[in-house]
Amino acid sequence: MLEVLKPRIASLLSEPGRETGQRLQGICELLRREVPYYDWVGFYFRNGEKEELLLGPYAGDPTDHTVIPFGKGICGQVAVSNKNFVVPDVAAQDNYIACSLHVKAEIVVPIFVAGRNIGQIDIDSHTPDPFGTSDENFLEWVCAEVAAIL
Ligand code: SME
Repeated sequence: MLEVLKPRIASLLSEPGRETGQRLQGICELLRREVPYYDWVGFYFRNGEKEELLLGPYAGDPTDHTVIPFGKGICGQVAVSNKNFVVPDVAAQDNYIACSLHVKAEIVVPIFVAGRNIGQIDIDSHTPDPFGTSDENFLEWVCAEVAAIL
């Protein structure tokens, strides 16, 4: 199911005449629309050299968490660890920033440009424990494609 989205993402990233922000917005909307258990899809990017993340394009309910310090929440931990973080049950996490009471699970995958962790894709789900290896592999592919246009 995820594999069939790859050509559509590739074309969103390569169509002429769009700004980077619009391309990333298009990816968020496509993923949220097409994957039933992706309820909020967004990008966070490092704020220059500061140890904080800023919210970029996203699809889903607005969030108050537009700035996340390194180390805080799932997103802030990925900024430091440089590793995927799959959370099957957000209620079991101490270091978690709640965006909505409906969220049951989360996955965050870092984006590397020239070996540097410059941001991440963050996905929240209202379904408990929905994310598997296929999501990690797919989102790593998405992040690599995104990195190529940054
Ligand atoms: N839950 C995240 C915060 C971002 S929201 O999911 C949009 C975290 O713990 O870092």
